[in-house]
Parts: sequence; structure tokens; C-alpha cells
Amino acid sequence: MSSLPEPSARHVLIFLFGIIFLQLFFRFHESKQTAFNHNPTDFNSQRTRLHHHPSVPLNLHGLDILDELTAHIIAVEAHRTFAESGLSDIHGTSIKNDTVGAKRIRDQIHCWTQHGSWVRQDEKSDKGALTSWSARKSHGDRRFGVCDTRFMEGLDRALGSPSNNDRHFLGEYDQKNGRWLVREAVKYRWVPDESICGPVAPIPNENTDTTPTTGLGDERSIYQLFDKEMFCEILAGRHLLVAGDTTQYQLYDSILSAVGSVSSCGDELNCRQSHQLCATSNVTFARNDFISVPWALDAIDDNNDYPSGLSIEQPWATTEMLQTYGIVLLNKGLIWKPDDKFLTELVFTMKHLWKFYPNVMILYRATPPVSNCTVLKEQREDETIAGDDGESIVPGLKIQRPLATTPERTRDSIDPARWFRPTLADVQRQNRMAKAIVESAGGIFLDTENMFAMRPDGRVGDGDCSLFCAPGPVDIYADLLFNTLRILPGPVQITELTKVEE
Ligand SMILES: *[C@@H]1O[C@H](CO)[C@@H](O)[C@H](O)[C@H]1NC(C)=O
Ligand SMILES: *[C@@H]1O[C@H](CO)[C@@H](O)[C@H](O)[C@H]1NC(C)=O
Ligand SMILES: *[C@@H]1O[C@H](CO)[C@@H](O)[C@H](O)[C@H]1NC(C)=O
Repeated sequence: MSSLPEPSARHVLIFLFGIIFLQLFFRFHESKQTAFNHNPTDFNSQRTRLHHHPSVPLNLHGLDILDELTAHIIAVEAHRTFAESGLSDIHGTSIKNDTVGAKRIRDQIHCWTQHGSWVRQDEKSDKGALTSWSARKSHGDRRFGVCDTRFMEGLDRALGSPSNNDRHFLGEYDQKNGRWLVREAVKYRWVPDESICGPVAPIPNENTDTTPTTGLGDERSIYQLFDKEMFCEILAGRHLLVAGDTTQYQLYDSILSAVGSVSSCGDELNCRQSHQLCATSNVTFARNDFISVPWALDAIDDNNDYPSGLSIEQPWATTEMLQTYGIVLLNKGLIWKPDDKFLTELVFTMKHLWKFYPNVMILYRATPPVSNCTVLKEQREDETIAGDDGESIVPGLKIQRPLATTPERTRDSIDPARWFRPTLADVQRQNRMAKAIVESAGGIFLDTENMFAMRPDGRVGDGDCSLFCAPGPVDIYADLLFNTLRILPGPVQITELTKVEE
């Protein structure tokens, strides 16, 4: 028998894909909602219960199909909810009804995060110690200082006790050996590739279309080092609200360290007071594991153990907050949820901001892939420093470096015992979902997924590989935030943050 005519074969295929997809989309394992306990030693035991995964393990091809179908569903959902508004408007800026302008800005930021590499910076800076990347210090939460503690203990053992003449101090420049006394993980800075993301030479002929293909193409596209004075100037009196889980709290912690301010809250559950960031700008952090909008909590959930004592949902999307804080920095994702829930909740939250607070700027950062840092910790990455040959000065310990390329995704494990963890493909798929929704709602998506996929190192360890030590890789967010705000035009004044009534 000859094969079916082409169109009907295609229909059958689409139908089958649709069925498979719906199965996957709605029949994810349900599991207890849990979250990080605020006691770091409990992180791992809590987390193992909350990660869950499709009940049908997929191979790489299956994952690709799932990506494609998800992209279609998201596009329809984004269009249905936000129309095309976000493509021409960036909320909280003067970019309104300007599709080309909005795209250029988003492309520029996207380029900085996609095209670049982690570059080791160990030289003593000419301009004095404080301008060097390696010299930065953490002033924040002490729990993120455990790597530094291990580092100093390791250095004491390797170089002799501090009573010797050769005293060594954390974060100082060692003149004799020409190196910064910091962990290796602290020395790497994210440097975008200027040949791709930087200015393009103007084309002399005025008649040709000189529109750059990637980003702005002028001097604004040069990625700049974080500068406190300029950062404060760019904030222009706006206040910053950071909301999310404990990994998001690390951003708050890092931004405060970048301006040299000491956070007074101690842990992420007590940061909801306004903290001074600059003379005229404040910052605050709300721990909300699902970035949920207050009155949406019960409507969405279909099992009764939510909110449980383990997931924390401090209010942040209130009128009072959103009329004060003109810039919100969000992330939703490390607390794993199946795709359908993730999407429903994200759309709900973004719609709330988009509809009622259209002058609030939304910066949403990608979820970093989960990395298992156990082996790196067993090789005691924190306790040593590289010698002239680039290897550890302590025999037996291993120097870790950022990866040069992002890890490959793997097929889903067929071992049900491993289904509680989201795979790289899961994190990637949900980040793509978030990007489409956030941009449609007039926000900016900071696509830092690949950058952090290249950083298995520098993590807290001791059962928690999702958090980074400070100082550490997370500090690049201060750079990225600075550059992002720098190119977003027309800061909205606090008086313009009024709620739009229905
Ligand atoms: C948006 O801009 C187009 C032309 O660029 C104009 O025709 C349209 O009326 C504008 N829409 C609004 C809502 O301002
Ligand atoms: C900013 O924070 C300081 C305390 O750090 C507080 O006194 C001040 O009222 C805050 N400003 C605003 C506008 O919230
Ligand atoms: C991490 O890796 C270690 C060593 O390879 C392994 O024993 C451990 O089970 C892994 N942890 C997770 C959560 O996969």
C-alpha cells in the first residue's frame, strides 16, 4: 500500500504530537511544595523532596519536540494575555510604541549575556587595589562566607601560621608572589565579546541601512565596569525591589556589597525594610519562592499543603511596594514546578504587574541550572590558590576553573529515583518560557543561564550546590544590572508609579 497523502500524514503526526505533549504537559508528578529552609544545613534535605520531573523520561529528540511545542503554546499564551504590547514598550522607561527601539535594547542585553567568557583577572590594578575585580569583598550574609573560611584555613596550613613574617590576609595583594589572596572562583569576571556586542563602524553611505543586527551598535554598547557613583546617578532616585528565593537573595546581597554597603538584615527573611543603596535610592528584599501575587495564592493551588511552612511567600507585589520601588528584580524557578503550574503562575504575576503597574520596570533573571558541586568540594577547591604554573600550590588539591563551554543536555534519566531533580533541559525550557512571557509583558529578561551553567565552581557546597559563596560568580549581576539600567532610557519618577485602577 502506498503511503498516505502528504497533508493527512502531517495531520496525523501533529495530532500524535499534540496528544503526547498534552500528556507531558499535564501529567507531571505532583509533589509536596517545599522550599529552602532558612537554615542552610537543611537546604539539601528539603530540596530533594521538591524537585520532580515528567513521569515519561524523554530522550534528546523528545526533549527537542517538547521545546518546540512549548514554544508554540507560550507564543499563543503570551499573545492572548499581553497582545503584542511588550514588543513595543519597555515598562519603566521612555520606550513606548517603539518596536525597533525596544528590540535593540533587548538584543544588546541579550548579546552581553550570550557572547562572552569568564576571564581570569589576577593582575594588580594600576589604579589601586579597589578597582581590581579580584579585590572585591563581601559585606553581606556571613553564611556565604564559608568558602573564604575554608580558604584561609587552607592557606594557613599551606603557607605556615600567621605568626610568621609572611603574613597573609584575605583579599589582599600578595606582592611577593604577584597574586590576589582570594579563591580562584573569585578571580573570574564575565567579559562580553566586544567584536560581537560592541559598536559597529558607521557605514559612510547614508543611503544604506546601517541598522546593526545585534543591539545598539554605538558607544552605549561598550560593557562598562560597575561604578558606584554612576550606578547611583543612573538609578536617579528610583528604589530597587528584589524578590524571589534564596538564590535571588544572593543578588540583593551582592548588589549591596558592590556599593560597599553592609546589609543589616542578617538573613533573607528579615530584609523587608528599606535599606539605603545610594543617597537617594534604597533597596529591599522579599523572600517569595514563587513570586506570587498576594491574592492569587489559593486560587491557583490545587493541593492543600500550600502554602506550607517550608515555602515562604512574603508579600512584595502590594500597592505600597510597587508605588515605592520602581525597579523590580525577579526570578522564579529554582523551586521546581511542572511546566503548566510554572506558566500559570508566572503569567498571573506578570499580568498583575503589566496591568496595574505599567510604570514599574521588570527585570527577570534566568534560573541557573542546578549543578552538582560535590566532587569539586571533595577536591577541596576552596582551600588552595594557583601557583605560577596555574596548578594548586597544595599538592593533592585541585584548582577549578569555569567551563569554556556550556554543558550538553542529557536525556532524562530512566531511574525514577532521579526524577526529583530538574534536568538541564527542564531549566532551559522554563527559562525560554519565562523569556517569552516577561518580554511580552514589557519586561527585560536577563538571560544569564549559560553564564552560570559554566560555573560549577565557587558554590557553597556542604549539601548546597545551588548557592554561591560570596564574593563569587553572582557578583557579575551588579555589572549586568549597571549596564542594563545604563542603556534603558527615561527613568520613571516615583510619582509616576501610581496604580492603574480597573
Ligand atoms: C504607534 O506608532 C504608530 C506609528 O509609528 C502610530 O501609527 C500609532 O498611532 C502609535 N500608537 C499609539 C498607541 O501611540
Ligand atoms: C531609605 O532607607 C532608609 C533607611 O535605610 C530610610 O530611613 C528611608 O526612609 C528610606 N527611604 C525610602 C524612600 O523608603
Ligand atoms: C553528586 O555527585 C556525587 C558524587 O558524584 C554523588 O554521590 C551524589 O549523589 C550527587 N548528588 C546528587 C544530588 O545528584
